[in-house]
Amino acid sequence: MAQRRLQLEIYRYDPNDPQTAPRMDRFEIDEEPMMNLFTVLTRIREEQDPSLMFDFSCRAAVCGSCGMLINGKPQLACQTLTQTLPKKTTLHPLPVFRHVGDLGVDTGTWFRTMYENIGSWVHTEEEFDPQAIEQRLPNDLMLEIYELERCIECGCCVAACGTANVRDDFVGAVTVNRLARFMIDPRDQRTNLQYYDVMGTDDGIFGCMGLLGCDDICPKEIPLQKTLAMVRRKMAMTGLKGK
Ligand code: SF4
Ligand code: SF4
Ligand code: FES
Repeated sequence: MAQRRLQLEIYRYDPNDPQTAPRMDRFEIDEEPMMNLFTVLTRIREEQDPSLMFDFSCRAAVCGSCGMLINGKPQLACQTLTQTLPKKTTLHPLPVFRHVGDLGVDTGTWFRTMYENIGSWVHTEEEFDPQAIEQRLPNDLMLEIYELERCIECGCCVAACGTANVRDDFVGAVTVNRLARFMIDPRDQRTNLQYYDVMGTDDGIFGCMGLLGCDDICPKEIPLQKTLAMVRRKMAMTGLKGK
């Protein structure tokens, strides 16, 4: 296959510099076998424009920092091979999150706020005993919890969510997934009504339109459809029964 010369249109804007205005910059780079967008952006920064801003850490779809809109679709740049892309590609920062500069956004503040709001920790009345041996849970239950814990907090599902794009108080599928992790954990002693208080609301599970853009987009294939359905059912029953 003949080597392609890739063309990238990249969104540029520094919100901290009032002199600048948003624009699209065009870069070209020769494609190489098994090249991913992390390599492309790093090469552009090293060889063509050192001021280009974007976030990376692990380069292996683990840290969740490199989510961006790749031809309009939220995806991880380090997981995206250029061979899966057309010759011309546009890159924009993820919507919903605070823009830091060019392709960089602040997902951390959004996640911290949402997770604090739902009480994202095991709630228990048990006294902590530093001498006690670790509490054991059945393997199949731990696997179920681990399946939800695999989320890397990249924000792609939030960026793909119609509700989150128009309502900044909407929790998004990822926060529902986070609470579900505690709902199935017997060590968390919260009652259904306590879960209802934080999730049985219009900015919680009942704000979800159920079109499942989140489930389609998740790069870690977290079972968001199943989790949203489980939490919606549980919260609806709690609302009806009042317990
Ligand atoms: S659920 Fe998937 S898409 Fe959403 S933040 Fe976690 S890993 Fe990213
Ligand atoms: S199913 Fe719900 S959480 Fe997922 S993208 Fe649609 S509105 Fe957002
Ligand atoms: S750099 Fe860590 S997920 Fe892409």
